[in-house]
Formats: sequence, C-alpha cells, structure tokens
Amino acid sequence: MKGHGIGFGKAIIFNEHFVVHGVPSIVSAIGQYTSAHVEPLGRSGVNLVDNRPATPNYKEEKMEQQRESLNRILNKMNIDTKKEGLLITLNGNLTAASGIGASAASCVAIARALSDFYHMNLSDEEINEIAYEGEKGYHGTPSGVDNTASTYGGLIWFQKSEKGNIIERITIDNPVEVVIGNTGKVTDTAKAVAGVRERKEKNPERYKEIFDRAENIAYLARRALQEGDLHNVGKLMNENHKLLQQIEVSCKELDFLVTIARNNGAYGAKLTGGGLGGNMIALTPGRELQEKVANAIEKEGFQTLKTIIGVTPRREGGR
Ligand code: MEV
Repeated sequence: MKGHGIGFGKAIIFNEHFVVHGVPSIVSAIGQYTSAHVEPLGRSGVNLVDNRPATPNYKEEKMEQQRESLNRILNKMNIDTKKEGLLITLNGNLTAASGIGASAASCVAIARALSDFYHMNLSDEEINEIAYEGEKGYHGTPSGVDNTASTYGGLIWFQKSEKGNIIERITIDNPVEVVIGNTGKVTDTAKAVAGVRERKEKNPERYKEIFDRAENIAYLARRALQEGDLHNVGKLMNENHKLLQQIEVSCKELDFLVTIARNNGAYGAKLTGGGLGGNMIALTPGRELQEKVANAIEKEGFQTLKTIIGVTPRREGGR
C-alpha cells in the first residue's frame, strides 16, 4: 500500500508581503515540483525522509518548522500514527530553497500523498486548505498565496480576504521564460513578515502610500499580462522591486542579482518570495535571452533556475 502526490514550486510575480495585508498579488507555478510518497512504517510514529535537492543549510534550518508543519497536516487530516506509523519520503526536482515555494510544495505533496494513501479522494480545495494549515508551521501567518499556487498550478490572481480568498486564473497566450537566481541565503519568512508589520505600524502614512501603489501595480500588471505586453510587465516588476526595497525586504545580494539581470537585457527583475535573501526572478522572454541572463548570473557564482511561468504543469508521477 502506497500513496503519492505532488506540489508545484511557485514564483510570486507581483506583491509578496503586500499580499499578507490584503493587497492583490500575482503568482505562477513553475515547472519544478516536489513529490511525496507515503507507506506503512511498520511501527508507530512518522519517519520523514527528505531527498529533495537543497540549498546548503536549508533543510537543517527548517527541520523544526518542517516537523511542526507535518504535525499540523496530520492533525488537520485526523490521522493518528500511534497504532500504524508512516514513512513519508520527499523527492522531486524543485530545489528546497527560500522564495520558490519549497515549503508550500512539500505541504501540498504530503497532503495529496496522504489523501491517496488513505483513499480520502480529497478535492483540490480541500488539499489547499490542509496545505495552508501546514504552511503555518513555516510562516506563522501565511497569506495562502504559496499553497494556492502549489495546489492549482498556472498563473493566479490571489487576494486574501476575510470573506474568503479571491483566487482567479489568469490566462495568457504563451508561457514566458524566466530566470530565477538564488542568493544562496536561507531566510525566515515569518521574521521578514513580522518586520514589515512592525514598520507598517510605526509609519502608517508612508506605508499606506507604498501599499496603494502596490495595489495599483497589481491591476496594471494583470492587464499587461493579459494583453501580452511583456515590456510593460517587466517595467512593473522593476517598480514592484522598488516598493519591496522601500519596505526593507530586499538585501544587497538580491539587488545585485536584479541589476545583473537588467543589465543583460531582462525586461524586468525583482525579488520573489519572502526576501532578505532567497531568490529573485527576471522576466526573460525567449530562450536566447533566458540563457544570456542565466549565464551572466552564474558567472558571478550564483545558481539559477531556467523555467517558465503562465502554464499549468502536468502532474507527472503524482496525483
Ligand atoms: C512568501 O513566499 C510570500 C509572503 O508574501 C508571505 C505570505 O504571503 O504568506 C512573503
């Protein structure tokens, strides 16, 4: 008896952090995913074997949060491992790193694998809710944007709301090449989010101005994406990065990678995810430009991921 499932990696194209406070965001699943396999352990308890490729120190630093996340998922699914234990194994081609949805992808993959193992036949909506619970183990107060992208895939407009989150699919004519550049710095999203909240409370007027601009950018970006105006999308990404700098979630490594990407022809570049390290994303339509930007970043000693946004990846090797 075995169960398996996958969760997509993601890149936030617009408005990480702002999304936590109810501003609309745009997120895309990327082609890389995490898979989870569940089988009987032969004794009580849970054994989690993490075979994901990872940025150095990521797994060690997230170990405690991963344990809490797993417990939250098991509780939410009413799974008791006291009598029959579980062996859960993580694999897949998504590197466990900050900013590309590694935690959300693993939560979704585990929820799907458990649903498969116990024949629960859960809907995507239910999987998304369970993964959101799991994300709390990593983020404290997640907006839900990451698990939503990891669950559904594709390009998504996401807005947190007390009346129920707004989740809308954005359709574009062709998927677009991007380069994701890894600073190699593992970061704590919960801390980054708490920092923004604190500064926002201290400087309400200044932050209101920045947040209003972020909201405006989301609407402009949605239209530009739908119209296929990628130059404008890139320009708006650059503006979005500036706002993220103003709320102090960028860092010198992220700014450096953003500058290299822009100097090598990227239409736009910004940090992606929690910031303070982790990853940046550059819009590089066409394989040639993608290659050029990735090479320039790699030449400086940083790892890159060449992928696409705007397409729902097939769920190979999983449900
Ligand atoms: C992290 O990938 C995205 C943040 O906006 C946090 C969240 O939305 O939960 C920084």
